[in-house]
Amino acid sequence: MATRVYECLKAIGDKIIANKDFLTDLDREIGDADHGVNMARGFQAVIEKVPEDEADIGAALKKTGMTLLSTVGGASGPLYGTAYMEVAKIFAGKDTVNAEDFKLALEAAIAGIQKRGKAEKGEKTMLDALMPAHDAFSEQLASGADLVTALDAACVAANEGVEFTKTIAATKGRASYLGERSIGHQDPGATSATMTLEVIRDFLKG
Ligand SMILES: Nc1ncnc2c1ncn2[C@@H]1O[C@H](COP(=O)(O)OP(=O)(O)O)[C@@H](O)[C@H]1O
Ligand SMILES: [Mg+2]
Repeated sequence: MATRVYECLKAIGDKIIANKDFLTDLDREIGDADHGVNMARGFQAVIEKVPEDEADIGAALKKTGMTLLSTVGGASGPLYGTAYMEVAKIFAGKDTVNAEDFKLALEAAIAGIQKRGKAEKGEKTMLDALMPAHDAFSEQLASGADLVTALDAACVAANEGVEFTKTIAATKGRASYLGERSIGHQDPGATSATMTLEVIRDFLKG
């Protein structure tokens, strides 16, 4: 029987695959028109390679990270791959998710992406969705909110982050070749990161 973590990964994959053309079109504007193609290929492999009956969230996420590393390519493959591998460490041996671990997971994902990609907030990358999402999530936890409420706030902040990427020039990754001409376009990686958070939020709500 499929475990909850597998079902959640499948839901993320389904969302990415359904938005393959949208994400690719975003990348056509400021990159090389492959973000959706890359991510859809990666998550197709994740859906096939993660064992449906894997109950250990850490083990399932480690497999996800390794699969993304070896199948996605581009800048986003190593970045997402590393993020999932780092998050896997937080959930090693666990089969449930609590708010405190989710906060640590967001921190681990961000740290992994920054270690690999050397980007900061405001460079028009996936971090412009994930860092505000983390801040909003932490703020909610500090004021006593539960996991789903905090995730709702994180998703709002991530969407605001995507909007913010429209207003700034890229200074990292392929889009940085365009310089000021990248202004006006939303970042594909910030968009796929926000989709991921929204799927997790919906999954944990359901
Ligand atoms: N150094 C970086 N740090 C964080 N994210 C990055 C970095 N470089 C690129 N990205 C993210 O990767 C996305 C592009 O992914 P993708 O198109 O799959 O790879 P590539 O740029 O190699 O074609 C960007 O929209 C951005 O969010
Ligand atoms: Mg690209």
